[in-house]
Amino acid sequence: MSKAKIIINKDYQIGKIDNRIYGSFIEHLGRAVYGGIYQPGHETADKDGFRTDVINLVKELDVPVVRYPGGNFVSGYNWEDGVGPVSERPKKKELAWGVIEPNIIGTNEFAKWAKKAGTEVMMAVNLGTRGADKARNFVEYCNSPSGTYFSDLRIKHGVKEPHNIKLWCLGNEMDGPWQIGHKTAYEYGRAACETARLMKWVDPSIELVACGSSGLGMPTFASWEAEVLDETYDLVDYISLHQYYGKENSNSQTFLARTLDMDEFINKTVAVCDYVGAKKKSRKKINLSFDEWNVWRTGRADNHYQDIYSHEDAVLVGSMLITLLKHADRVKIACLAQLVNVIAPILTDDANAIRQTIFYPYMHASKFGRGTALQTLVECDKYDCPEYTGAPYIDSIAVETDKGVTLFAVNRSSEEVVLECDAGGYKGSKEPSHIAMFEDDIFATNTFDRPDTVKPKVMNDITCESSKSTCTIKTKLNPVSWNVIQF
Ligand code: AHR
Repeated sequence: MSKAKIIINKDYQIGKIDNRIYGSFIEHLGRAVYGGIYQPGHETADKDGFRTDVINLVKELDVPVVRYPGGNFVSGYNWEDGVGPVSERPKKKELAWGVIEPNIIGTNEFAKWAKKAGTEVMMAVNLGTRGADKARNFVEYCNSPSGTYFSDLRIKHGVKEPHNIKLWCLGNEMDGPWQIGHKTAYEYGRAACETARLMKWVDPSIELVACGSSGLGMPTFASWEAEVLDETYDLVDYISLHQYYGKENSNSQTFLARTLDMDEFINKTVAVCDYVGAKKKSRKKINLSFDEWNVWRTGRADNHYQDIYSHEDAVLVGSMLITLLKHADRVKIACLAQLVNVIAPILTDDANAIRQTIFYPYMHASKFGRGTALQTLVECDKYDCPEYTGAPYIDSIAVETDKGVTLFAVNRSSEEVVLECDAGGYKGSKEPSHIAMFEDDIFATNTFDRPDTVKPKVMNDITCESSKSTCTIKTKLNPVSWNVIQF
């Protein structure tokens, strides 16, 4: 059994957390839309065909924003195909994923679903096969009140009030050779710049996300961001980052240390943004939109891109959330990819909707991680594994919320760790709480037959000693565990 000490202080503020850091993503892919959020005839479907069992789980997660409609899908998508009378919408060959898109769900239906689910839409425009003109028309269709061709078209389609979509992605993963309409950084930078100008002329209140790299390992990483921002710096607000981690042949401790790479990815992207800003002698800061992140193990076409997540995956997801929060000063948006069925915390079959293991750390962070992020100083043992040297066993972040302090902590070790946490500036609470996720079998999963195999447990092993202006929390962190400590 080893020991760890965490020091928190009210004054060690990283920054105010933008709630959009708890966003998610729904793409026209696999069973995310059809059979996921939309299944007319399902026993819980409402009059619009939306599954209310799914909506209820989305509400449990309290998702502030959902990116739509892709992903790779958007790079071949014509938004006009998904509006107007459903019977007149074209069925089309969808080239990103090699299926037929029926276009039954489009912009107006998705906006309606988002309202029911209590979330905002983050919309992506197609910069693969299309460009500035179609994008500005789309903003006009969504956001202009009336009196112009596209706003009146929306009204003719039965949607009187504008959707007022505030957050827009300028394409998706344009650095990836797999992307429909893949571009060089310069080609994309120019296209994004001209598109951004027109979109903001139509609606100056929108915020724009330029495509960054599709992973730290991309050969063009860093030079891509620098060139794209050279062309777009004054027009965009965020640059995107995407990252998925698989297990491949790595052992558990290597897998759980993957967030050291995520941390590096964020630090280096911030450095490039600030380098371009410095070169341009600009006072403006470009922030980060980590708009695709998750564990992605095996989900492929033959299983509709559905991953079945283990307890161990949930612990890495917890550590990814901690990593995002450590950068709350610059990461303003993040989207767990995705939300339903496709590499997702919610899984449906024709009867039920269940919570996968990763549902829980995401829900905990979204519910208990709103406020101001506080740096944690961690003293703990470290380990070497094939890909990392000196990886700390404990990963943590604290959040000052309106109810007190939440400490999120992951124990990467296969042994129990005794934790002492000193929190300067906080009196603590007489009733501190500790919720933990740990399993004897770290590969345990939730299934439709046994949906509650892996779920959080309320612990009774926590104490809080208070003095006037500080408190000391003592508890134990189980092997390979995700922990939520509140005081
Ligand atoms: O989220 C699944 C896919 O992963 C997205 O379509 C794409 O952007 C990424 O490569």
